[in-house]
Amino acid sequence: MSSNVILTSSDSDKTATLPVLSGSVGPSAIDIGKLHKETGMFTYDPGFMSTASCRSAITYIDGDAGVLLYRGYPIEQLAKHSSFLETSYLLINGELPTTDEFRSFEHDVTHHSMMHESLKTFLHGFHYDAHPMAMLCGTIGSLAAFYHDTLDIEDPAQRKLAAIRLIAKIPTIAAACYRYTIGWPIRYPRNNLEYCTRFLHMMFEVPSEPLDLPEVAAKALDLLFILHADHEQNASTSTVRMVGSTGANPYACVAAGIAALWGPAHGGANEAVLKMLAEIGTPDQVGKAIERAKDKNSGFRLMGFGHRVYKNFDPRATIIREMCHKVLNALGVQDPLLDVAMKLEEAALKDPYFIERKLYPNVDFYSGLIYKALKIPTEMFTVMFAIARTSGWVAHWLEQNTTPDAKIGRPRQIYTGAPSRDYRPISGR
Ligand code: CMC
Repeated sequence: MSSNVILTSSDSDKTATLPVLSGSVGPSAIDIGKLHKETGMFTYDPGFMSTASCRSAITYIDGDAGVLLYRGYPIEQLAKHSSFLETSYLLINGELPTTDEFRSFEHDVTHHSMMHESLKTFLHGFHYDAHPMAMLCGTIGSLAAFYHDTLDIEDPAQRKLAAIRLIAKIPTIAAACYRYTIGWPIRYPRNNLEYCTRFLHMMFEVPSEPLDLPEVAAKALDLLFILHADHEQNASTSTVRMVGSTGANPYACVAAGIAALWGPAHGGANEAVLKMLAEIGTPDQVGKAIERAKDKNSGFRLMGFGHRVYKNFDPRATIIREMCHKVLNALGVQDPLLDVAMKLEEAALKDPYFIERKLYPNVDFYSGLIYKALKIPTEMFTVMFAIARTSGWVAHWLEQNTTPDAKIGRPRQIYTGAPSRDYRPISGR
């Protein structure tokens, strides 16, 4: 049933009748596209607190109920039964694959896993202690210079190939960035291994001896990748879409997504959590940290806590918490930071400040501890997030490129600067 909202300006006698749009599930939205034309006014919504920027059929979140669905499938079911590559197929294509469809997708991703040899020279241009996120962002952006055959975004076959290349190459590039910073020779992808095992080999295998990889490592990584694969219109995905709206090539769009992900309020939080836990040091220091986080003048927030959308619990955090205990037990890791994390979670969940503001552990609170147990260095945590989120980014980019009424993203503003004034020569100022 279609309905409208009538908006009357208190400044003028202008009225706009605005249609109300509904999705398949979730709240309705007022279509304000004609508001400016009809009333001369804009809407103001910094941080997009009440604004839907697009229609999308990929991911659904109900933040109050702690629900996360990829193409309709609950994250808990995908975490239990699916794999990262199957989930990537689902995000991109909208349906779970048949056996043949999956084999074909896996074959394509596997056989595009090598990076262009010239990229090695490119990597050597970075300073030896460059942050891997800086390297990843620059290197992914540079892929446009290597793959001219996938830059015509009007061609569905080129778009598909670009999507496959991005998912296939990002683990190889990420591992190469890491190895460059520690002075190890770059390891080529071994295509007889599946996606996550292949990545761990590229990270840790040295030419001088075989790699003894515990089974739980690739399993844990696969789970983390499923949980991080998409999250509807988060800051980095919205960035990918904003850049994509200009007609920019997919490598530029994903490089922009990586840059947005790096911020500590977004994907950079997993790195920040570990630094915070290390700074807190011991469970008996947790009380002080809680008091600092509550003090607005301290400039300190509990990293890995709070979420723009989840105001009850983050369903990914529940799954990761369980996996964290399993991985640490399976690997026999005694990490004192886990004790600090558990004490911090317990104390914050009892504290009225956090209860009133509905601040709960988010996906990043425990993921860093798992990465640490897998011997992934802290600076690589956000890179891991970027590898997983690439499948979400390309799914959104592909969806955007088949949306008939897509427009360039171009927000308006409330101007607060000086009104029009005349230039004065320097001698008269
Ligand atoms: N520690 C202490 N206080 C907090 C925290 C926190 N982690 N998060 C929010 N608050 C307070 C904030 O000070 C404000 O208080 P008041 O109402 O008194 O002014 C209130 O809670 C609402 O915060 P907000 O900043 O308006 O909320 P937001 O929806 O704009 O921000 C957030 C969401 C995730 C950026 C924020 O909770 C935060 O900075 N968390 C820490 C960083 C983090 O863990 N980020 C990862 C997010 S999940 C993974 C991802 O999406 O990349």
